[in-house]
Amino acid sequence: MREIKFGVIGCGLMGREFASAAARWMHLLDMPAKPVIVGVSDVNSSAMEWFATHHPGITTTTNYQDLLADPNIEAIYCAVPHNLHEQIYVDCIRAGKHLFAEKPFGIDLPAAQNIVEAVNQNPQVIVRCSSEFPFFPAAQRITQMVSEGAFGQIIELKAGFCHSSDLDPNKPINWKRRAETNGEYGCMGDLGLHVLHLPLRFGFHSKNVRALLSNIFPTRPNSAGNPENCDTWDNAILGCESAQGFPMLLETKRISPGDTDSWYIKILGTKSSVDFSTKHPKTLRTMPYQPGGKQAWHEEDLGYQTAYPTITGHIFEFGFSDAILQMWASFIDELSGNKPKFQCATPEEALASHHLFTAALESQRTGQTVTIA
Ligand SMILES: NC(=O)c1ccc[n+]([C@@H]2O[C@H](COP(=O)([O-])OP(=O)(O)OC[C@H]3O[C@@H](n4cnc5c(N)ncnc54)[C@H](O)[C@@H]3O)[C@@H](O)[C@H]2O)c1
Repeated sequence: MREIKFGVIGCGLMGREFASAAARWMHLLDMPAKPVIVGVSDVNSSAMEWFATHHPGITTTTNYQDLLADPNIEAIYCAVPHNLHEQIYVDCIRAGKHLFAEKPFGIDLPAAQNIVEAVNQNPQVIVRCSSEFPFFPAAQRITQMVSEGAFGQIIELKAGFCHSSDLDPNKPINWKRRAETNGEYGCMGDLGLHVLHLPLRFGFHSKNVRALLSNIFPTRPNSAGNPENCDTWDNAILGCESAQGFPMLLETKRISPGDTDSWYIKILGTKSSVDFSTKHPKTLRTMPYQPGGKQAWHEEDLGYQTAYPTITGHIFEFGFSDAILQMWASFIDELSGNKPKFQCATPEEALASHHLFTAALESQRTGQTVTIA
């Protein structure tokens, strides 16, 4: 099997998730190629120790330019704080490395526009952005239903991504809770592309937005235990009008009591409706309807039905790390010259999410509904 040599920039939470997915590539069946991590970079040397332990002989460097200068490395996975996206992504693209980037794909709209410009100037380089939840079997089924026009006239769409760990006011502050490093978008930058990936893929762009943003805890303790400004938005509720005319209610929340990594999508239509949340990861709820007929929700346990076949039997459950593996399978498939079974989020989709978040900030400032260019 062809090996695609990777460098990883940013050896934190998500860098390790990629390494773990690459390490269990044997889980996937019939892949044309596999990723092999040959070099890693992090400004914090201790973050690279885990990689060095699990990949003896790997290159470790505190300067990511060393990876870009290595002709052996074909592709980069970059998972660093948002304020570094623009510089590092543009450097990767200009160095001719295929790039699997993290969301939000730049700290703000100008950063995302500069990254997309670099992508357009280097069409030989494949650039995709991380968004794993659409690879859940139920989300794949919903995608199929949309392509078949199963909903009839869409009445409304609701989608969201909710966490609750920030309900604890004593949770220490880190880069993800500071606007300087995370961005003015706050929770929208952290969670928003996850919510928008499917609606955008379905062509459901937002024409306008009325945003309600909340900063529930304006301070958090720093590592010394002293209160520090926590100037990012904790929760966002976005009321949007889709290009098709139906309402979309999109939420990204860090303080949603009781929710842990709860990603959901609900589409109500005149012919059918669907409802899926990762709270119930194998269960898809659907409601087919015929005029005058009964209105009854059905529950179906989908099991392990994936875009990319694996060794796991279809009767078993699917989870977060499976979604990460499927997402990587799609990127590697595309790097191998194939049309992926479900394409990872594109630079254009990431840019569309920035237009919405930027308009949402303006809506919050003015209290008005803001038209999206
Ligand atoms: N797809 C997902 O589900 C998901 C989940 C969490 C985070 N993310 C995204 O992944 C990215 C990273 O988040 P994380 O949770 O892994 O953060 P993290 O803080 O765990 O890791 C970031 C790493 O980047 C390193 N770093 C900082 N500056 C660097 C530089 N100049 N060169 C090399 N390394 C540098 C840090 O030392 C740290 O080890 C962000 O864009 C975030 O939004 C995605």
